[in-house]
This record gives sequence, C-alpha cells and structure tokens, in this order.
Amino acid sequence: MIFKKFTDSETILTELMIPSYANFGGKVHGGIILSLMDKVAYVTAAKHSSGYVVTVSVEGVEFLSPIEVGDLVSLKARVNYVGKSSMIVGIRVEALNPKTGIVRHTNSCYFTMVAKDESGHVTEVPGLSISDEESIRRFAEGKALKLLGKQKHQLLKEKFHKMSISEIFKSVEGEKLTYSPD
Ligand SMILES: CC(C)(COP(=O)(O)OP(=O)(O)OC[C@H]1O[C@@H](n2cnc3c(N)ncnc32)[C@H](O)[C@@H]1OP(=O)(O)O)[C@@H](O)C(=O)NCCC(=O)NCCS
Repeated sequence: MIFKKFTDSETILTELMIPSYANFGGKVHGGIILSLMDKVAYVTAAKHSSGYVVTVSVEGVEFLSPIEVGDLVSLKARVNYVGKSSMIVGIRVEALNPKTGIVRHTNSCYFTMVAKDESGHVTEVPGLSISDEESIRRFAEGKALKLLGKQKHQLLKEKFHKMSISEIFKSVEGEKLTYSPD
C-alpha cells in the first residue's frame, strides 16, 4: 500500500476579500468562505489521492467572527484522516487585516472528501504516514468524527421515523412553533 505524508498535500489558499463578496451588512458572505473551503479541501484531497474527489460532508462550520472587505483570508488545509476511500480534510481559516496586521482565527472545520475513479466509482486512497503526536491526535479525532457522523445519521433516521406523531409533538412542546393543519 502507498503511504503519503500530510505535508505532501497540505495547501494554503489566500484570497483578498473584494467588495463584490459583501452582503447587505457590508460583511463577507458566508457562502464565499464556504466556496473557498470547498476549493482548498478539493485541492488537498486531490493531491493526496492523486485523482478526482467529491465533497461528501462538512462538519463544524461556524461563522463566529465576521470577515471584512479588505481582509486577506487564508485557508490552511491538511489531510487529518484517511479511511478506505474517504479523507477528512481539516481547514483553519484566518483573516488578516493588512492595515493593522491583526490576524483573527475565524473558523476551523472538517470536509469529508471521497476519491472516485475515471468511471465515477469510489476508489481507494493512499494511507497516511505520520511522524508526530499532533498528527496522531488529528487522525484519532477524524476516526471519531466519521463514527459520530454515522451515529448522527442513524439516530435522526431511527429516532424520529419510529416515533408516533404524538411523541413527536411532545418532543417540541414549548418551542416557538404553531401547528394549524390545512
Ligand atoms: C459519497 C458517495 C461516494 C458515497 O457512495 P456510497 O455508494 O454510499 O459509497 P460507500 O458506502 O462505499 O462510501 C464511500 C465512503 O464515503 C463515506 N461516506 C458515505 N457517506 C458519508 C457521509 N454522509 N458522511 C461522511 N462520509 C460518508 C463512507 O464512510 C466511505 O468511506 P471509507 O471508504 O473511507 O470507509 C456518494 O453518495 C456520492 O457520490 N455522493 C455525491 C458526492 C458529490 O457529488 N459531491 C459534490 C456535491 S455537488
């Protein structure tokens, strides 16, 4: 089996936040940042797998601090975990105000990417060759994230699909909700 280091595919994408990226409030649209995250995740995973990849899921996207027009946004991405055909790419987003030199960590998130072959079938990816403790921690976190993702899907599917409508009503009692059947 082929093994690759995370440094073989680590990618940094830096982009200037231009006025056309702004929303009505003058801050950068969340969708612009999401699109850049997807791009850097693709590049990183494509480099690791040496081929075509697709985005399967996204975890942990939270916009805790707004990004301003004029900021230089850098997205640092690396492969944290590999399964058989999937790769979890960890992305750290930082915004630099070039005038003040202040750098803000605005977001960290995880993109699951899956490798596909020429015919569009899921295909195996190289293993990860690790030589530091931080990378082992990230790998273990990635493995846990994959498991949690599966459990979350199962829980939502099973829990609410097996509940009676009266149990479902009870579970949302007191919420900001009104029900008026047609
Ligand atoms: C993702 C996809 C390939 C899974 O296909 P599948 O037939 O269910 O394949 P598998 O069950 O073998 O899963 C393949 C891998 O995807 C992972 N996976 C599947 N669903 C997942 C999910 N919801 N979240 C995270 N990983 C997932 C599996 O864990 C597996 O990883 P592994 O090989 O490392 O163990 C398929 O659903 C797909 O092609 N989706 C469209 C992706 C796409 O086009 N993205 C662009 C959006 S515009």
